[in-house]
Amino acid sequence: MKHIEQNVPVSFTYYVHFTEGLFDRDNTIFADLIRDASSGKPLKVLFVLDEGMFSHHNRLMESIRAYADEHPVIELIDEPVIMPGGEAAKNDEYLVQQVHEVVNRANLDRHAFITAIGGGAVLDAAGYAAATAHRGIRLIRVPTTVLSQNDSGVGVKNGINAFGKKNFLGTFAPPYAVLNDYNFLETLDHRDWRAGISEAVKVALLKDKSFFEFLEQKALSLDKGDREAMHHLIYRCAELHLEHIATSGDPFEMGSSRPLDFGHWSAHKLEQLTDYELRHGEAVAIGIALDATYSYLKGMINKESWQRILQVFKNAGFTLFVPELEYKKDEPTVPDSIFYGLEEFREHLGGELTIMLLEGIGQGIEVHKVDIDTYREAMSMMRKMDEQPV
Ligand SMILES: NC(=O)c1ccc[n+]([C@@H]2O[C@H](COP(=O)([O-])OP(=O)(O)OC[C@H]3O[C@@H](n4cnc5c(N)ncnc54)[C@H](O)[C@@H]3O)[C@@H](O)[C@H]2O)c1
Ligand SMILES: [Zn+2]
Repeated sequence: MKHIEQNVPVSFTYYVHFTEGLFDRDNTIFADLIRDASSGKPLKVLFVLDEGMFSHHNRLMESIRAYADEHPVIELIDEPVIMPGGEAAKNDEYLVQQVHEVVNRANLDRHAFITAIGGGAVLDAAGYAAATAHRGIRLIRVPTTVLSQNDSGVGVKNGINAFGKKNFLGTFAPPYAVLNDYNFLETLDHRDWRAGISEAVKVALLKDKSFFEFLEQKALSLDKGDREAMHHLIYRCAELHLEHIATSGDPFEMGSSRPLDFGHWSAHKLEQLTDYELRHGEAVAIGIALDATYSYLKGMINKESWQRILQVFKNAGFTLFVPELEYKKDEPTVPDSIFYGLEEFREHLGGELTIMLLEGIGQGIEVHKVDIDTYREAMSMMRKMDEQPV
């Protein structure tokens, strides 16, 4: 018997820029990116826009047209695809097909670019379309929410929902670049401004105690719209996220664990159980509070640390309990039970159940078994605290 063993090393580099006024005439970041990729010839660029974002920035296409005129290396496909914002972008596979149709009509090839401008949901759907057309057209992400600038938009994943399951269809595909323009954040409604803060609390709890202390100090002012603090939050959170992708040894999640999905097993289920009425970031705050409470009840973190975690969320204005958190908690194997979220979380990766918990502030620990009764206790504590704030 013969066999060939071939090692294929693959590495990738992408820049995440932080800027304001991306399509201002004198801001050359975007044009430089395209120029660096071209061999002197103009390259085609198709824009995919988030309708919710676009309704607040309705002169955006005019700015992009003027920018493309100024920088002829950009061959603008003047037929942007406009997708509904929010989870609706990921719940309709026709939207992905619509991007593919324009890619086909405009003859985009692998040297062309799709630039997606919007929240995490539109970036996920547009990223999936880009990754699957011609097996991968270059994707530039321009995230326009806090959560997409500090978390979802800087990573290597995309996806849409199918069969009632989140991110059932999707790929791992590093972006060509990520361009975070803080000006977009000015038009977010308050819920979306706040929602992304929970992902920062998440990485801080797992990886960086002093960042957690910063968030504690700034939680109240962040909720009141403190821009400077928010810009720092986004930068540091994105940096920790990228460091993790680069150094964890498992950028494409081939193993059984997803360390950055701390608090997410229940969060994903809550999004589904509330019919996506809860924003991803809002569900993540509840999920983290739940797993922190569980960690406390299991004696893994002390009372003070646990209370600090709940307080930072409360100060930032998050609600830490919704009735769906206890949905069918006594029937854990029923598919719409909150506890079925554990099985769905495991199944998304396959392999052994792996849940991230806390050993301290800045210190995560993975476990492979959880105790449902303790989780039930944590849930009822959270309900009682909601009735009587800590
Ligand atoms: N790919 C990943 O690794 C990853 C990681 C985390 C989360 N996600 C996904 O990200 C999604 C959540 O993303 P999100 O929190 O950015 O919210 P979102 O994409 O759901 O957007 C929320 C709302 O904000 C609107 N909006 C976007 N930008 C705006 C702006 N600048 N001004 C005014 N309104 C604007 C949208 O139209 C939408 O109505 C979820 O689908 C989640 O699963 C993906
Ligand atoms: Zn998340």
